[in-house]
Formats: sequence, structure tokens, C-alpha cells
Amino acid sequence: MDTVTVNLGTRSYPIHIGSGVLTALGQLLNQQNFPAGRIGVVTDTHVGKHYREHVTHTLGASGFDPVFIEIPAGEEHKNLTWLAFLYDKLVEGRLERTSPLLALGGGVIGDLTGFAAATFQRGVPFIQVPTTLLAQVDASVGGKTAVNHPAGKNLIGAFYQPRMVAIDVETLKTLPRREFVAGIAEVIKYGVILSPELFLLLEEELSVLLDLNPFLLTCIVKTCCQLKALVVEEDETERDYRAILNFGHTLGHAIESTTDYECFLHGEAVALGMVFAARLSQLRGLCRSTTSERVCRLIKQAGLPVDIPTNLAEERLRKGIETDKKVAGGKVKFVCIEDIGKTRFEFLSAKEIAEHL
Ligand code: NAD
Ligand code: GLY
Repeated sequence: MDTVTVNLGTRSYPIHIGSGVLTALGQLLNQQNFPAGRIGVVTDTHVGKHYREHVTHTLGASGFDPVFIEIPAGEEHKNLTWLAFLYDKLVEGRLERTSPLLALGGGVIGDLTGFAAATFQRGVPFIQVPTTLLAQVDASVGGKTAVNHPAGKNLIGAFYQPRMVAIDVETLKTLPRREFVAGIAEVIKYGVILSPELFLLLEEELSVLLDLNPFLLTCIVKTCCQLKALVVEEDETERDYRAILNFGHTLGHAIESTTDYECFLHGEAVALGMVFAARLSQLRGLCRSTTSERVCRLIKQAGLPVDIPTNLAEERLRKGIETDKKVAGGKVKFVCIEDIGKTRFEFLSAKEIAEHL
């Protein structure tokens, strides 16, 4: 098992990564001095079906008494209604201020549980056990928690760091293929924005990754967590630098909202956004065509979409970009690339961005 530390002073925490981490979960909690006894475990219907029994056993064997709370799977349940349901269950289950709350699932469960942990009894210890590739390399690290509001995605939330992240790459074996491939988009993102070495590794070993090789998966998830930890350590609350993680997300979010979240998974929309951001960077003379072509080629080889559907009108996408919650003073802090591993922010209006569509 590998361990990466997110260094945030007294709020520092370990990320344990490897095969069989789920089996060691109870022991890892003991090692971190979480008090034995009641622990809230929030999961969704899909993940619960695969892992509830195993997690109950491993936690029970280490002196924990898990109170399972199951939320129906899907982004449409990351909202205030299901947050209220979660609070009710925590009260019913007599969870105390010292009782940890553990998120077992993808980014939806992580974000929802994290916000509940930040607010229930003014904050209870939070543990992330991510089971999608996207959550393992991105959502479970860095403390962004939120629920959606009818007016926008992640509109209600808090920065609240977990006390521990436990990543078992074996859980990816039960993940639907399309979800796994969507997670690769976020992995490619880390290579493009921060690491030419990771990008090259992906170019060379993509087929091994797609075969779910556990050694390569552990290595890649670890690298992504290390890269994200460095960004979060430098700018925990996204005053500036952390925004590089939004590479591909400006158009990605606009595509998701324009299509009512029904056509593309988040990672697929981000893939389209990254292709666009690379091409925009090239068109503005910021990077060479070979750089932008490498980005597009890798995304395509991973099996991710590269062509924005022609039925998505430029006008609607422009409006989608305008309503992004990260727009300030009419300008978007758009993440461009100068090379693989080198980014720069360009402050662009939605109109200037849409011109390149
Ligand atoms: P998700 O949580 O909806 O999971 C995707 C699907 O896979 C669901 O149907 C789920 O039930 C199923 N699933 C999860 N793990 C499984 C497993 N091991 N085996 C079988 N099925 C499994 O989606 P996601 O892509 O993990 O996360 C998307 C969410 O994450 C979005 O809400 C997004 O806003 C959020 N997010 C948050 C951050 C952050 O920093 N907090 C970063 C990126 C994304
Ligand atoms: N997923 C982007 C961030 O954590 O900032």
C-alpha cells in the first residue's frame, strides 16, 4: 500500500492507495485513532450492492459499529432533499460529534457526505473511500464538498478536508466501463496541466491502464493524488492557482448544463472541454500545434469523445459559459496550455471563448 500526505498543518491527512485497502479499512481507522464504536457509512445503491457486506465485516472486526445510509445512485440525488434525508438518518442512528462519517462511493456520495460532515453538529470527522476513478484521482482529495441547487451545480457547499482517504483500486473492477473511461479524462488533465512524465506514461501505457492493471492503476492514482495535494497545499480555497484544475471544465460544464446532464458523463464533457482548450491555446498562439494534437490524440485513444455535437448551438454554449459560477467581472479565468505540463490563465469573455467553437 502507498501513502501520500496532504500537508495542511494540523489538518494534514493521509491518502492510502493500493489493492486490498478496503479489507484493511478498519485497521487503518484504528491506526488513525478514530474512536471505536458507531460510524456513519454513506453509500449509494450501486456501490452498496457490491461492498456493503465487505465493509460491514472489515469495520466490525476492528471494533466499529457501522450505521449504513443508502442514497439512490445518480447526480440527481446530490441535492438538499437527500441531504435532509441524510441528516435525519444521522440523528436516527444516534451519531455523535466524535462519530466519523465515511463516504463510500463516487464523487456524488463524497460531495454530499462531505457537506453533511462539515455541517452535522458543526462538523464531524470525515473519511473518503472513493470507488470511481474520477473520485480516486480528484473528488476525494482537496476538501471541496457540495450539493446542487436548481439554479446551479455545487452551488451550496463548503471546503472541509477529510481526515483520511482510503483508495482501493480493486473497486474499479466493478465500475461500469464508461464510468472508468470518463475518469481517465481527469487523469489526462493532470498530465496536461502539471506533468509531462505522467502524460508520456499515459501515451505509452494506455492499453495497460484500460486493462485495469492494479500496479499501473496504483501508480497513476498515486501520481494524481500527489499532484493534486501539491496544488491544494498551495491554494486550498482556490483564490488563484487551484483554478488550473479547471482545465477543460469551462466548456465541459457548459456542455453538461446545455444538455441537462443527460448526454455526457462529467469526464466525457471535460474531455471535449480539454480538446477545445488545447485548440484555443493553439489558435491564440500560446502552444504549438503538435502540443494540441498530442492532447487530442490521447483523449481519442482513451475512447473519450473529441467532437462537440453539431446540434449544440454556439449561442447556447456561450450562455452556458456565461452562467458558470466562476465568471467574475464578465470574464472567465480560462485555463490555456503553453506546453504539456505548463499552463497559463487567459481572462476571456464568453463571447471570445465561443468564437473558437
Ligand atoms: P458518481 O458518484 O455518480 O458515480 C458514477 C456511477 O458509478 C454511479 O452510478 C455509482 O453508483 C457507480 N459506482 C461508483 N463506484 C462504483 C463501483 N466501484 N462499482 C460499481 N459502480 C460504482 O460519479 P463520479 O463520476 O464518481 O462523480 C461525479 C461527481 O463528483 C459530480 O457530482 C461532481 O460534481 C463531483 N466532483 C467533485 C469534485 C471535488 O473536488 N469535490 C471533483 C470532481 C467531481
Ligand atoms: N476538482 C477541482 C478542485 O478540486 O479544485
